[in-house]
Amino acid sequence: MRYIPVLLVFCAVLNIYQCRYSLLQLTDTCLNTFIWFLTDFHRYIQQLKELPKPISTYDPSNMHFNYNLSEYQRECPEHRYNIEIISRRPLIIYIKNFLTPNEMQYLLKLADPHFQYSKVINNDGSPAVDDNSRVSSTAFLQRSQSPILECIEKRFAAFQGNINPLQIEPLQVVKYQSNQFFNPHFDWFTDENNLNKGGQRITTFFTYLSANCTKGETEFIEVKYNHTLHSRFCQFLMCDDEAEQYGLRFRPIPGNSIFWFNVDENENNDRLTLHAGRPPSENGLKFGLNTWTRQAIFHG
Ligand SMILES: *[C@@H]1O[C@H](CO)[C@@H](O)[C@H](O)[C@H]1NC(C)=O
Ligand SMILES: *[C@@H]1O[C@H](CO)[C@@H](O)[C@H](O)[C@H]1NC(C)=O
Ligand SMILES: *[C@@H]1O[C@H](CO)[C@@H](O)[C@H](O)[C@H]1NC(C)=O
Repeated sequence: MRYIPVLLVFCAVLNIYQCRYSLLQLTDTCLNTFIWFLTDFHRYIQQLKELPKPISTYDPSNMHFNYNLSEYQRECPEHRYNIEIISRRPLIIYIKNFLTPNEMQYLLKLADPHFQYSKVINNDGSPAVDDNSRVSSTAFLQRSQSPILECIEKRFAAFQGNINPLQIEPLQVVKYQSNQFFNPHFDWFTDENNLNKGGQRITTFFTYLSANCTKGETEFIEVKYNHTLHSRFCQFLMCDDEAEQYGLRFRPIPGNSIFWFNVDENENNDRLTLHAGRPPSENGLKFGLNTWTRQAIFHG
């Protein structure tokens, strides 16, 4: 290609028309190929730029406060969360900074040796493994087993109007690997066995403890995303082009909690609370904390 200009000059001097024409043709083809290559390369670079990034990685430096865990023995620290009301019916409240980085680390460490295959509740109230509806691992945390856990349980109770912390079931840490999920379901019970252990599960908190993943949202299938109402929550809701085809999808952001009522004002089971835990995808991993509150004191 380097010789083309030399040949062009040579042809020009000799004024050989056919030779000049072929060379120009060749130059043109070369340039076209080059432009075509650059266009493709440009497109490839654009694609690389658009690869999904982890939407939330555990980064304690992002969080503005923390507590020294050895001081919980003396007194529970003042809470530092703030809230947003997302939906009135069903009532869904988003709580930012419900847990501190120290607390999340502590809960994950406490749960670590206790993970078992997660179960669902059969119609007769017995627990069972069901790969079609729920695939994840669960670790049960023994109630008030340390001053730290007790303070966290009290914080969940205080949020609900200072109810008795014994209405809350022992906390559960759940772990979802890349392709694990919890298909659409309700948290309330229909069987006597479970209802006899303290009444209905009236509320749920789902708190993210760690999320190194591109997906892994919690979706409320029946509460449709509405741009007018929800676009101001894009900091923690999925607001992509397809958002309006889905229910509200909360992104996994460690430390933050989704709180909702499973029953309506008349204490009837609310079908609008249908929700799902979506898989973290790729090499993702996510941990969450389930907090369920009963109508009365829970006895398991
Ligand atoms: C936490 O508190 C304990 C006792 O009050 C103290 O000994 C320790 O140095 C503190 N740790 C940090 C990281 O501040
Ligand atoms: C979204 O919400 C606005 C405000 O409440 C309402 O006027 C509108 O009809 C809603 N859009 C849809 C598609 O439901
Ligand atoms: C999650 O973290 C692990 C270990 O730090 C890493 O190997 C993996 O690629 C991460 N996954 C994502 C989706 O970032």
